[in-house]
Amino acid sequence: MNKLEQLYEGKAKKVFLTEDPDVLIVDYKDDATAFNGEKKGTIVGKGAINNRMTNHVFKLLEKEGVPTHLVEELSDRETAVKRVSIVPLEVIIRNVAAGSFSKRLGVPEGTEFTEPTIEFSYKNDDLGDPLINDYFARALDLATWEEIETIKKYAFKVNEVLKAYFLQADLKLIDFKIEFGRYHGQIILADEISPDTCRLWDVHTNEKLDKDRFRRDLGNVEEAYVEVFHRLGLK
Ligand code: TMP
Repeated sequence: MNKLEQLYEGKAKKVFLTEDPDVLIVDYKDDATAFNGEKKGTIVGKGAINNRMTNHVFKLLEKEGVPTHLVEELSDRETAVKRVSIVPLEVIIRNVAAGSFSKRLGVPEGTEFTEPTIEFSYKNDDLGDPLINDYFARALDLATWEEIETIKKYAFKVNEVLKAYFLQADLKLIDFKIEFGRYHGQIILADEISPDTCRLWDVHTNEKLDKDRFRRDLGNVEEAYVEVFHRLGLK
C-alpha cells in the first residue's frame, strides 16, 4: 500500500490517499497542541507510541464487538485505515471528575462518579469545540438519532473494555475522547486512543501519565508516554 497525495494535515496526524479509494494512510506526528492550538510543542516519540497504542487498543475493541477503522499497521508511525466521513462530534466519557468538568462544575479533580458520564462537543475549531447535547447534534444535523444511539452504546462499551485493560497496567482511566465515522452507512470508531486523548492516572499515587503533563507544564512529558507504553507491554 502506497501513500499518494496528502489529503489533510491535522494537529497530530497527516492523512494520505492510497490507490484504494476506501483506504487512507494516517501518519502520526510528534507535534502536540493544547487549548485549541494556542499552546504548541513537540513530544519526542509520541507519534510512534500513539500509533502502536491506538492499533493495539482498536484490535482489542474489535474483539469486543466495537467496529473500528483499523486496516493494518504499516510502520511505527503509519497505519492504513478505512476512509470514513467523520461525525463532527467529540464524544467524551468520564469516570472521575477532572479537567473541564471540574472547572465548569466546581467539583474537585479526582472525585469518582457512581456511573460514567457522556458528553458531546461540536468539532469546530472556529467555535472552540463547544459543549452540546444530543438535541443540538440533531438541530445541527450532525448525526441521526439512530447514529447517536449507536455512538452512545459503543462509547460506553469502549469505556468498559478500556477501564479493565488499563487497570491491569495499574492505570486508572479518568476520562477520554473518541470520534466516530461513517463507513458505507455504518458507524465505526475512528481517530485514536492514546495518552493524547485519555486521562490516565497511576492507581496508587494518582500521578498523571497523559497529555495533561504537557497541557499543564508538569514536566516529564515524554517519560509519561513511554511509561504507559511499557506498562501496557507494548514494544
Ligand atoms: P476536558 O476535561 O478538557 O474536557 O477533556 C476530557 C478528555 O478529552 C481528556 O481525556 C482529554 C480529551 N481531550 C481530547 O482528546 N481533545 C481535546 O481537544 C480536548 C479538549 C480533550
